[in-house]
Amino acid sequence: MTLSITSDNKASPQALDDDLFAPSPRHPESRLEAEWLFLFNKLPPDQWFGADYAYKTSGWLKVHTNIRKRQRILTQISTAYQSGEFGWSEYRSQILKRINMHVLKLHQHHGVEDEGFFPKFIRMYPQLQEGFEILRRDHERLDALLDELQAQNDQLSRTEVEDKVLAVQLHQTLVDVTNLLSQHLSDEEDLVIPILGLRQG
Ligand SMILES: [Fe+2]
Ligand SMILES: [Fe+2]
Repeated sequence: MTLSITSDNKASPQALDDDLFAPSPRHPESRLEAEWLFLFNKLPPDQWFGADYAYKTSGWLKVHTNIRKRQRILTQISTAYQSGEFGWSEYRSQILKRINMHVLKLHQHHGVEDEGFFPKFIRMYPQLQEGFEILRRDHERLDALLDELQAQNDQLSRTEVEDKVLAVQLHQTLVDVTNLLSQHLSDEEDLVIPILGLRQG
């Protein structure tokens, strides 16, 4: 925390107020450094859907909403099986195609960001490069987890006789993806949405 110090060596009331009300990232585990938040502070989350910004920000946020929703549904299906609410065949019929679709869409999403958007944003704001490097490394970790999830799903598609060990392994991978995704998406939004909202044209 930095405060402006006045000549008599006391923090000015204005600086104290500014510090108190400065927006902070939306989750306590945010990995974004304070100096990367200069755009976030200009366009905090409560303004992302404002009339002046929503037409520029809502597309990206909607994609993330859909990712979170698909991930939540997969976890719900897996939990329903683990708790005995779904039998083996119901579990397989609900989850197999959904995992295929989710993995495919997430790989595509990461590719578009790594190859298109992120390099463009770094050219616009070179001082954010390190932040985007965190996000790019997240994609590598996520893609490895998604490959694992896909391999488990492929095995599930071939396994007509109940295999509880496989289902537990798949459930754990889903939990791992959920944890990393939730941190990644929030950090990405805090970095990217203000760029999109404040972009001219
Ligand atoms: Fe991403
Ligand atoms: Fe994204």
